[in-house]
Amino acid sequence: MATPAKRRKGDAGRFSVKYPDILLFIVDRNIPRVRHEHLKTIARKKGIPVADKLCCNVTHIVSELETQDKVVEVLRKQYKKDVISEDAEILSMRWFTTSMEESKAMEVNDEYRLPREQKVVQEMKESEEVEEELSVAKYACQRRTPLKHFNKIFTDALEILEKNADFSGGDQDYSRALAFRRASASLKALPRTVTSMKDVAKLSDIGKHCREVIQEVLEDGHSSEIENILSSQWFQTMKLFTGVYGCGPVTARKWYDMGCRTLQDLKKSEKISLSKDQIKGLEYYDDLQVPVTKVEAEALRNFIIEELNQISGELSVLITGGFIRGKDSGHDVDFLISHSVEGKEQGLLNKLMSRLMEKGLILHYNGQINSFKEESAKSPKHSKSSMLDQFEKCLTMFKLDSSLVERYSRTTMSDKVADTESTSNPQSNATCSAKSDAIEDGKHSLSENKDKAWRAIRVDFVVCPSSQYAYALLGWTGSRMFNRSIRLYSDRELNMTLTSHGLYDKTRQRFLPATSEREIFDHLKLTFVDPWERNC
Ligand code: CTP
Ligand code: MN
Ligand code: MN
Repeated sequence: MATPAKRRKGDAGRFSVKYPDILLFIVDRNIPRVRHEHLKTIARKKGIPVADKLCCNVTHIVSELETQDKVVEVLRKQYKKDVISEDAEILSMRWFTTSMEESKAMEVNDEYRLPREQKVVQEMKESEEVEEELSVAKYACQRRTPLKHFNKIFTDALEILEKNADFSGGDQDYSRALAFRRASASLKALPRTVTSMKDVAKLSDIGKHCREVIQEVLEDGHSSEIENILSSQWFQTMKLFTGVYGCGPVTARKWYDMGCRTLQDLKKSEKISLSKDQIKGLEYYDDLQVPVTKVEAEALRNFIIEELNQISGELSVLITGGFIRGKDSGHDVDFLISHSVEGKEQGLLNKLMSRLMEKGLILHYNGQINSFKEESAKSPKHSKSSMLDQFEKCLTMFKLDSSLVERYSRTTMSDKVADTESTSNPQSNATCSAKSDAIEDGKHSLSENKDKAWRAIRVDFVVCPSSQYAYALLGWTGSRMFNRSIRLYSDRELNMTLTSHGLYDKTRQRFLPATSEREIFDHLKLTFVDPWERNC
């Protein structure tokens, strides 16, 4: 019986040699033995001499390993002494397979040579440089901004300054607030913690004031300016008052100037006439301070799906806002509702609200009818109000019963909420025909517990026609800063107007339709950024 060694010898002599100047060696590391033998045989069949053992006559070394350096390392260990000729080419399997396919020994070039480790390091460096460049890109919409980032100690400080400027209220303060926001946004996108002022040198969005704050935090671990703001009665009171639903900085300042300092002061003051929003805002103040959890939001979505199911099929209901950006809790729940058939979304919200009100679930609401006009989506505005859209919507205070959460969180649909690809398409997103097992008992009435087993939460409902869905989704996903940035970028860099209703190309004078967020990014020549990387 022939030994394997003899058979190999036999093979070698059996085929005529077409390439006498080549001696091939196939490194067996990472290649099963049987395949290794097979490879040697087919090379010989093509007239390429193959060495069974490495020797200094070998001209071509082929390997599955990743780099030349690895091959040398492995062979040195295996053969103890250095038997690799200086002229030997160390090649990838691609040289081998191409040679076999072409039935000839391919000319060696860089395409076939395995990379040197230095080169690999260099390439890694280059891709890091691209990442680095991306992280300091001019517009926040060009960067990836995760929820959890490396520079919280600095961004927390800058956000206090932003809030402080926002509370102050003048036009100048508005630009100052925005400048602090932009600075904090640029720090959030950095892939590492700032440890010296050198690290922020490249960031164009960080002005003198912000630099001073960063420097102070770097040196002392905190900023005295921020501490002064936080401890001031004015700031604390403004924070308290603007936390009342329906109260912005202007009203809060007015109340402060009237001498009010506590919520009690507001309730009992005879000089103050509270709006309906503010009355409810005060009534449910404590409830509304409690963040809404993701579990609650998803349970509520399942409940809303069931409710809408009673009205019409083919609907999509999506949680947008902070939750779609990966937050575990939020100040409200934002629902984007659409019908797969354009036009059929009309009147939906009224019907839904009637149902919810009949059930006593709406404690308070502000409705807006759809007032969209094409003209308004053509011209850009960069004021605060331009961020608002004209969709039919209802901003509510919802009575969230703990039994509703319990009943509706046991469903199979909740997983789909965070799935971004499906978010781009109302048809594919969990529709109302999907059934929640939560109401199989058929009981809808949610009992009111004397011990108040419920709390008020803020819930926003927005309805959009399917043709505007992708744009509405982009707008309602946010963040606010991301929207501001991508809209500014569209206008300045591309002469296009982006709103939650569409994208208008002012040069070509036409709207650019899109069925997914990706398409919008394509229209804008931007690399797609996932929702959870839009937390600027
Ligand atoms: N939005 C909007 N028009 C409004 C209100 C909000 O387009 N009238 C957008 C905002 O730009 C934001 C998103 O809807 O990106 C969600 O708004 P909001 O609920 O205020 O903020 P969130 O990012 O969801 O933060 P939170 O988790 O605290 O709710
Ligand atoms: Mn929200
Ligand atoms: Mn909202």
